[in-house]
Amino acid sequence: MNKDKSTAHLDLIILIASLIVIAVSVVWMVNTGVFSVTLIEDTKLAWHLVRSSGIVAYVLLMGSTLWGLFISAQFVKDWSPGVVSMTLHSTISWLALVLGLIHALLLMFDGYFAYTLGDLFIPFTGPYRPEAVGLGTLAFWLIVVVTLSFPLKKWLGHFVWKKLHFVSYAAFGLVSLHGLFAGTEGTNLGLRLLIGMGVLLVVLLLGIRTGRTHEKNARSAPRKRVQS
Ligand code: HEM
Ligand code: HEM
Repeated sequence: MNKDKSTAHLDLIILIASLIVIAVSVVWMVNTGVFSVTLIEDTKLAWHLVRSSGIVAYVLLMGSTLWGLFISAQFVKDWSPGVVSMTLHSTISWLALVLGLIHALLLMFDGYFAYTLGDLFIPFTGPYRPEAVGLGTLAFWLIVVVTLSFPLKKWLGHFVWKKLHFVSYAAFGLVSLHGLFAGTEGTNLGLRLLIGMGVLLVVLLLGIRTGRTHEKNARSAPRKRVQS
């Protein structure tokens, strides 16, 4: 009964928070004049979509990395059922992968540079800032490996799957550098703050999670020795 009540409260809080975010976004978009330009008239539509999908993919990847850490460090185990936590983590991960793919493919529709599929998916070969863009391509492949390793978990075994999952930190690091150095918004304070805060949070949580794992191992080590 109590649980139902707290779930209802949580639903209400999430609903109100979502409405506030939507309202703030609408006001912000109206103020920036987004609605006064019809999309068809926008000659740089593909480029705007490349940039916006890149930023959304980044936010999703950040969410997935942070939530993965929440799961591993057991921060959420008392208030978020395992199935919910896992569904959220894997859904956000798949969305990040799909948005990352769309972000890359949209470059083929932008007239400014002529991108081929090879330029997009072979790291460091494209016509524009190949080093910084190549980091995004590398990160993309790492995300593919981490995401696809789950359906292949039975075949890989838990140990290999878990080790492969640590690649996610490299993917997040590379994408952070990519966002800062490849994009037009790299000098934008908002994007810098977003990436800076994301990296800081991930490093902080990783530190806490590693500390907890050491503590747990230290606590179980004497018991193991006594048993043996
Ligand atoms: C369908 C895709 C995915 C599934 C099903 C999945 C599943 C999981 C699970 C079960 C854990 C908890 C592991 C444990 O401690 O026992 C975890 C942790 C984690 N996940 Fe994922 N994951 C997926 C994709 C991703 C992606 C794409 C990223 C980010 C690039 C990511 C980042 C993380 C991180 C950072 C952790 C914490 C790792 C640690 O330090 O222990 N995951 N994930
Ligand atoms: C095949 C992989 C990828 C390619 C070829 C690629 C290419 C590019 C290019 C050319 C830009 C510069 C756009 C501009 O501002 O003119 C860019 C920016 C960006 N990309 Fe990627 N990218 C890839 C993967 C990713 C992934 C996986 C993410 C996130 C998960 C991502 C996030 C971003 C972000 C946040 C920006 C900055 C947006 C801006 O400043 O306008 N990219 N990418």
